Amino acid sequence: MSLNNATPEALKQLEQTLTAEYESLKSQNLSLDLTRGKPSSEQLDLSDSLDGILDGEFIDSAGVDTRNYGGLRGIISARQLGADLLGTEVAQTMSVGNSSLNIMYMVMLNNYLYGCRGKDTAWGELKAPKMLCPVPGYDRHFSITENLGIEMINVDMDENGPDMDQVEALIKADSDIIGIWCVPKYSNPSGATYSDDVVDRIAALGKIANSSFRVMWDNAYAVHDLIEDFKQLANIFERCKAHGTEDSVWQFASTSKVTHAGSGISFLSSTEDNLKNFEKLLGVTTIGADKVNQLRTVKLLPNMDATYAHMAKHRAILAPKFDLVLTELNNELDSQYATWTKPEGGYFVSLDTQPNLAKTVIAMSSEAGVVLTGAGAPFPYGKDPKDCNIRIAPSFPPTNELKVALSVLIVCIKLATVRQVMS
Ligand SMILES: Cc1ncc(COP(=O)(O)O)c(C=O)c1O
Repeated sequence: MSLNNATPEALKQLEQTLTAEYESLKSQNLSLDLTRGKPSSEQLDLSDSLDGILDGEFIDSAGVDTRNYGGLRGIISARQLGADLLGTEVAQTMSVGNSSLNIMYMVMLNNYLYGCRGKDTAWGELKAPKMLCPVPGYDRHFSITENLGIEMINVDMDENGPDMDQVEALIKADSDIIGIWCVPKYSNPSGATYSDDVVDRIAALGKIANSSFRVMWDNAYAVHDLIEDFKQLANIFERCKAHGTEDSVWQFASTSKVTHAGSGISFLSSTEDNLKNFEKLLGVTTIGADKVNQLRTVKLLPNMDATYAHMAKHRAILAPKFDLVLTELNNELDSQYATWTKPEGGYFVSLDTQPNLAKTVIAMSSEAGVVLTGAGAPFPYGKDPKDCNIRIAPSFPPTNELKVALSVLIVCIKLATVRQVMS
């Protein structure tokens, strides 16, 4: 039924039916969680052979005793895995601690406090340093930026990535813009993979931005495909070489959602000059990362073929959950109520309600026992300008719980929309 053309009586009838459904769900005292994109325990089980995999062999292929201190850049085989994952070269890739987010923070902190090429280039010396934030985006990128007191500027995203006309115009108009956050493959939360043209234009930004401008290229979902015939992401490292802008990009990835989320290994890659500069800070904070864990990881994932084979097992668990979400949304809602993304990888479905309803829907779901990521979380300062975005994370709950959680979410969306039309 068309909500806008419906008679007041028909709307009232619909509102009463939906209210009854909502109250009945509420009375079930549910306690379900669709908040964070965590792997399920079934997915974690896939990597349990990490435990004991070394069988007492702690010496790596280069003869390094991984039990001892040292090796700030990580063991060579782990760096190779990172380079292959990111499409860069081993000499320009480091394998560090268990969290790429932690390393992103440190790179940002280093550039803010000490500068990429000395104090004169420190972002903190600028009058009003600003970071471009494609939205909706990853809340923790925004927390890092806010924590450093760097102003955030929203940039629109579509299925090809950030709106590059906006990005280029903003950079040309303001030399205090010091960087941009990018999740180029299966973006969190929209699932968009940047088009070749967008990747090329991002690689070229170093030619129009100030010399301390940095692209934070967070390739967290580099191998997290939900379909076999996945779209290739263009290689930013190659595009930067073509433009002579290699210094302007930092690349990141990790095995957090490949092996055990809390004890993966992370990677970062950039030019030798950038790495050396960053090591000055990193070397103050640690003598070296957990090389034993790096060795364990490369024993499980010795190369990209092994990594893709491993990710196919994740896909077998994850794809049916995403199918379930998309089928339920498709069966129950249409564009009068919401629109949503159909990701081919990553960890999220991004749903837009009608304007000004996300907070209401999330509050109603929570009252009925289904916790969703807070309204506004995928936006800088937690402010969704249209109050419409809801991030759905299907990976963690078992399928039966996911189904119930979705039925709650769907009723809440319908009821909130009908009430808005009525008012
Ligand atoms: C885009 C993105 N980057 C980074 C991370 C965290 O990565 P790590 O576990 O390596 O710190 C996540 C986790 O959800 C993510 O979605």
